[in-house]
Amino acid sequence: MKELLTATLVLGLLSVFTMPAQASPEEDLAKLRAFYKNRFPNTQFSDFKNGVYSIDADLRSQWEDIEEFPPYELNLEKGKTLFETPFANGKTYASCFPDDGIGIAQLYPFFDSNSGKVITLEAAINQCRAANSEKALKWKSGPIADLSGYMHYTSRGKTINVIIPDDPRAQKIYEQGKAIFFAKRGQMNASCADCHINYAGNKVRANLLGMAIGQTTHWPSYRSKWGGMGTLHRRYTGCNKQVRFKPYKAQGPEYTALEYFHTYISNGLEGNAPGNRM
Ligand code: HEC
Repeated sequence: MKELLTATLVLGLLSVFTMPAQASPEEDLAKLRAFYKNRFPNTQFSDFKNGVYSIDADLRSQWEDIEEFPPYELNLEKGKTLFETPFANGKTYASCFPDDGIGIAQLYPFFDSNSGKVITLEAAINQCRAANSEKALKWKSGPIADLSGYMHYTSRGKTINVIIPDDPRAQKIYEQGKAIFFAKRGQMNASCADCHINYAGNKVRANLLGMAIGQTTHWPSYRSKWGGMGTLHRRYTGCNKQVRFKPYKAQGPEYTALEYFHTYISNGLEGNAPGNRM
């Protein structure tokens, strides 16, 4: 990959995509959408929610075959049961969320002006548990992925709508997430943006690289590689590790900021989680 990057840069074949720090979220979004429209003229905007399957017919048909008997079905059942089972105090998750937690996942992550923090859906699930004197769940797989997967499932078809309010604290977290997305990492000296913007549509080793918009819409996902469901932050961990960069902590400030930026750029696409991935 490093060789590929260097060779291409030297030959000047690649124009490197940038998002200046001073650009507003709206400007970033417009620029990014225009970039992908130009790179993938045969993909409808609405289809970007399917990630790499929106740009490769073979991969898509393999994926559609698997979707006939989705491997996440059992996880959805488990998630629903967990969601509806009362805590020791008799209350359920519904008591912690707007609209009883049904059909609301597309609004996450959101900036909470009381705490000044961005709250992901998984963070809200554990906050709900804490408020009801229940132990926190582990962040990357297991019950939290099933619960989040079920809650997202009730939001399928709703439009992703992450809001970056006109509050300097929210803007700062967005900028931090954007900076992480563009930061060169690890032994390969590659950023998320290198693989998922500059090289989107090209292969690295045997893998076709998908684009950054539409990448979060189907998380949590069931991955055959994992043999189970995992959260978006688990996927981030994998993408950091493959360039030999020590991953951040799941649900720590860095990945939360990254998710805020990364989900914002999928605004306007339909949520379709949980997904199934190879
Ligand atoms: C060396 C290249 C490379 C780098 C750097 C990289 N990724 Fe990936 N990423 C991949 C490949 C390959 C896949 C699997 C194919 C795909 O879906 O794009 C993938 C998949 C993903 C997925 C799942 C997409 C889906 O549709 O399910 C997410 C989310 C993701 N990457 C986020 C990131 C983020 C965030 C970063 C930076 C922290 C990053 N990646 C850095 C190569 C990379």
